[in-house]
Amino acid sequence: MDPEVLLKVARKFGTPVYVYDEDQIRKNYRTFLSAIKSRYKNTRIRYALKANPSLAVCHILRQEDSGVDVVSEGELLTALKAGIKPKDIIFTNNSKTDKELTAAVDAGVIINLDSLHELYRLKKTIKDKKKSAKVSFRVNLAVDPKTHPKIATGLRESKFGIHLEGGLAFKAYGVAKGVKGLGITGVHTHIGSQITELGVFSETTEKIMEFACQLREELGIKLEFIDLGGGLGIPYMGENVPTPEAYAEAITSVVNGFKKRLGYEPELWLEPGRYIVGNAGVLLCRITGVKETPYKKFVNVDAGFNVLMRPAMYDSYHRVEVLNRVGDEATETYDVVGNICESGDVLAKGRRLPKVSEGDIIAFYDAGAYGFSMSSQYNLRPRPAEILVWGETAEVIRERETFEDLFRHQRVPKDLLK
Ligand code: LLP
Repeated sequence: MDPEVLLKVARKFGTPVYVYDEDQIRKNYRTFLSAIKSRYKNTRIRYALKANPSLAVCHILRQEDSGVDVVSEGELLTALKAGIKPKDIIFTNNSKTDKELTAAVDAGVIINLDSLHELYRLKKTIKDKKKSAKVSFRVNLAVDPKTHPKIATGLRESKFGIHLEGGLAFKAYGVAKGVKGLGITGVHTHIGSQITELGVFSETTEKIMEFACQLREELGIKLEFIDLGGGLGIPYMGENVPTPEAYAEAITSVVNGFKKRLGYEPELWLEPGRYIVGNAGVLLCRITGVKETPYKKFVNVDAGFNVLMRPAMYDSYHRVEVLNRVGDEATETYDVVGNICESGDVLAKGRRLPKVSEGDIIAFYDAGAYGFSMSSQYNLRPRPAEILVWGETAEVIRERETFEDLFRHQRVPKDLLK
């Protein structure tokens, strides 16, 4: 997005504020899908809603004909509200409550089971309700995604999925096959996020295809889909990361190699989150001033890790730019720090920037994924607004929270008011 457009948005809607570029979201979606589709026609995208679950974003993806991956009842309701068809929704999470299982059964979405206890509880739920359900299993393939440990999910020590090891996943399918009212529709895995090594995706695909063959050969199970999850990394620092084309080639060359042995052609499902919305979002903050200590120069801004959690949580790097000083020479080295009362609240460390002053607007780029969705009211700061930009238009898609919102759900027992 053009710095002038962003400055206008900051002036009009205030800061901190998240701004999303609709065209970029659509472009990312189409680039990703066409890379895979040109190599494996039967491909469907199941956008990972957790990356950016705003209703407006969800509507954009529904218009693009995407399905979604949801992980909670809130995300499920969001997807349904945006008009995504239940058959295009896959409900994943590693600790589903009975209430969530019931909601998923009622909605008729695909329930992606993560353990045998979920299977047994689902069996009871459909029996009690005299209903049927469509299921898949998330499998743990013991693949190291070579990413930040906090976003690695495919390791054998990970809490996610039913292990292939020890025949556990195979047994789960065997049990599910014998449950009346359960339709086995697919197999799923998601090994991690911000992955930049292609070999990891090939290994994952190889293992899951081998397993699909085993299900067909030994249990006679034909799957409607094979879901490889999300995980494709984006270049936060301008580094080289695999293109969607290279990613697609790594996956589909393996899938196509198994075609003959598998004997049928399941749909290939992919769940990108970050790739679709990451570079389409910017966080704008206002600089409150510069503080020079004997050791460092700090740029203070009007947001903290309650607004952008990623740097504190994963030591993530977000490129920054001072929008009203674009083109000025970078003469200073600053730590850009937030307003939260914790030392970990550093948003950007040791950055070369032009000399800044109070009132400047600073942009944190590539903040469209896991930005707003991980924000909180910590330190009792209302969450920021979200703005969608298309063409010449900028419109609020989520209002800035108010102080009222901080108190809305609180109750004080009468005795305490004396
Ligand atoms: N599918 C499942 C089941 C997932 O758990 C995730 C992300 C995705 C798909 C999408 O992965 P992506 O394409 O976005 O890499 N908060 C972290 C990322 C956590 C990812 C959680 N699961 C961050 O800010 O980097």
